Amino acid sequence: MNEPLVIGNWKMNGSRRAIAQLLDGISGLGRQAGVEVVLCPPFVYLGEVGARLQSTGLRLGAQHVSEYGSGAYTGEIGAAMLADIGCDYVLVGHSERRALFGADDARVARQFEQALGAGLSPVLCIGEDAEQRAAGQTWEVLDRQLAAVGSLAEAQARRPWTPVIAYEPVWAIGSGTAADPQEVQQLHGRIRAALGAAGRGARILYGGSVVADNVRALMAQPDIDGVLVGGASLRAEQFTAICELAAGG
Ligand code: PGA
Repeated sequence: MNEPLVIGNWKMNGSRRAIAQLLDGISGLGRQAGVEVVLCPPFVYLGEVGARLQSTGLRLGAQHVSEYGSGAYTGEIGAAMLADIGCDYVLVGHSERRALFGADDARVARQFEQALGAGLSPVLCIGEDAEQRAAGQTWEVLDRQLAAVGSLAEAQARRPWTPVIAYEPVWAIGSGTAADPQEVQQLHGRIRAALGAAGRGARILYGGSVVADNVRALMAQPDIDGVLVGGASLRAEQFTAICELAAGG
């Protein structure tokens, strides 16, 4: 199996003080073998967090990237800037961006390209909402969101990189109830198959109310390669436990 990957998405939370405390609380994680851990702070804290992460083994990610390269795009942050400041990863197509900030499939595809072009690993977030699930459209939605970024195998032919897909059912995010691990496994199997040649090495994460209590059952599934953690990544003890359990501890 691919090395487990745990990504903490802090969303729009934190302050210099709260972040310093959180980093103190998770400082042991840099020595945790068997799992790759990525932190995604808000943009304005990337530099500071990146400096603290240096030589810890923890990696830095951003929550969003512009669909444009550089220039007259007030308020935007470009992929090259993220790479320049030390990011390895960037979330693309998170459901909050899709629902609240107009990130449709075409825009997500452009952001994905920008990230790849700058040498970042885009984490493509996909997921159905409650209505789509109730209407039996889950796979249709996932398939469309995956296809929107084009062939990953072709992109890999241009530059070898390990695709990361995060399946996050919108109805599970922030709800306190994660999706059923077996249902997630089934969908992850389909996602891997749909990726064709790029599927075998791809890391397919689950996100949506992941906590220390449910991560073991999720990670026990063969096609769940890691987790994308929102709320619980802001709590040092929870996040540490999640990473340890994901590593097989
Ligand atoms: P949650 O968020 O863990 O708080 O449900 C996950 C996410 O939105 O990435």
